Amino acid sequence: MKLWNPDSWRSLPIVQQPEYPDQQALKQVEKQLNDAPPLVFAEETRSLYKQLADVCEGKSFLLQGGDCAESFTDFNAANIRDTFKTLLQMAVVLTYGGKCPVVKIARMAGQYAKPRSSDFETIEGISLPSYRGDIINNFEFTEQSRVPDPARLMTAYHHSAATLNLLRAFAQGGLADLHQVNRWNMSFVAANPLKEKYQQLADRIQDALEFMEVCGINAAVAPSLRETDLYTSHEALLLGYEEALTRRDHLSGDWYDCSAHFVWIGERTRQLDHAHIEFFRGIKNPIGVKVGPGMKPDELIELIDALNPDNIPGRLTLITRMGADILPEKLPALVRKVQEEGRKVIWSSDPMHGNTEKASTGYKTRSFNNILREISQFFAVHKAEGSYPGGVHLEMTGQHVTECTGGAYGLSDEDLAQRYRTQCDPRLNADQVLELGFLVADLLKDARKKV
Ligand code: TRP
Ligand code: MN
Repeated sequence: MKLWNPDSWRSLPIVQQPEYPDQQALKQVEKQLNDAPPLVFAEETRSLYKQLADVCEGKSFLLQGGDCAESFTDFNAANIRDTFKTLLQMAVVLTYGGKCPVVKIARMAGQYAKPRSSDFETIEGISLPSYRGDIINNFEFTEQSRVPDPARLMTAYHHSAATLNLLRAFAQGGLADLHQVNRWNMSFVAANPLKEKYQQLADRIQDALEFMEVCGINAAVAPSLRETDLYTSHEALLLGYEEALTRRDHLSGDWYDCSAHFVWIGERTRQLDHAHIEFFRGIKNPIGVKVGPGMKPDELIELIDALNPDNIPGRLTLITRMGADILPEKLPALVRKVQEEGRKVIWSSDPMHGNTEKASTGYKTRSFNNILREISQFFAVHKAEGSYPGGVHLEMTGQHVTECTGGAYGLSDEDLAQRYRTQCDPRLNADQVLELGFLVADLLKDARKKV
């Protein structure tokens, strides 16, 4: 392998980075971060790696979800708790439906940097630098707010640490209890307009739990009933930050990006000869890369080989984001090529980013139907090609926002104004994402009949 260092990306072309007016201040913060404790421990990252190897081999399913972008203003316990709850509620349904373990990765505790389609944003004739996520600048549309501020790296680090601390406490401290999580699901079902459709599954999970209980299998004798592993992830876009949190693990001698367990490269920054690929190839974390409709089969193989030259299962997740209409046309050739070439990857579906549209009321939105349609087609293509649909990657929140249309409550373009809170892309709200969970559980059940 060509020589690699946490900073070897610095000599290569790079896109989607802010221009800091005060380079000295930036250097200082990066140094401070480099001295700070890592956010995750390499051993945890290795256990995620093993769990992902099982996904790669068709034995488990990957659920990844959270905000499009976390924000400093929405940083509070209720938000973290509600996203945590919603992810676990969905995980239970998928575990039961697929009859397989579900690997849970939150898009949380570090999802602060955003790539933008344009460097500038223009509102009523005024042009200012684009908002690039809270780790870089401020959302407010004023000249001062939009100046990239290095101090934000440190704030993002502290927010991530506190978020991770609470997630760990929830995952191990009782809030992940299966009985509890299924009780939440029962209330979700009871209130849902499509109650009949979802009731049966929730009831069967309840029966299974009660049966185990009378047989003497409870959390006291089986702690795994009340504990879970929830890992963290984000798009590792701002490489100065990622480099500063990259550490050599003393047990293995390997380099890990300790800002999160799992990091991914976005569709806009995955050029083979650019900085992001260089940085990612040297870290030992399990990693992801977004794959859009423009990807060609040969190009995909080159990308896979750059990121996973030893073809290790669990190392690389391809997160496809095609759009519901385009997926059936583009995905089969990619899957076929990867199968033919024997490359070991996890296929995960991001049904969000290819289905963004403008509502008649002006809001940036996504429709529940298109999201579901992309996932269904993702499963259908993998079924036809004889490969395994390994996971889903969702932009979601535990809050009752109105950002995506449709779902059992039939949110319309007019409803979007009620609680449209996102600073970036529209997220599925708690009801929509759970409903999706019940529907994906059916797809997964069918997919796993083959395995
Ligand atoms: N420990 C198992 C797991 O994480 C079972 C489990 C406990 C669980 N609490 C959960 C599964 C909450 C999903 C959601 O898979
Ligand atoms: Mn997004």
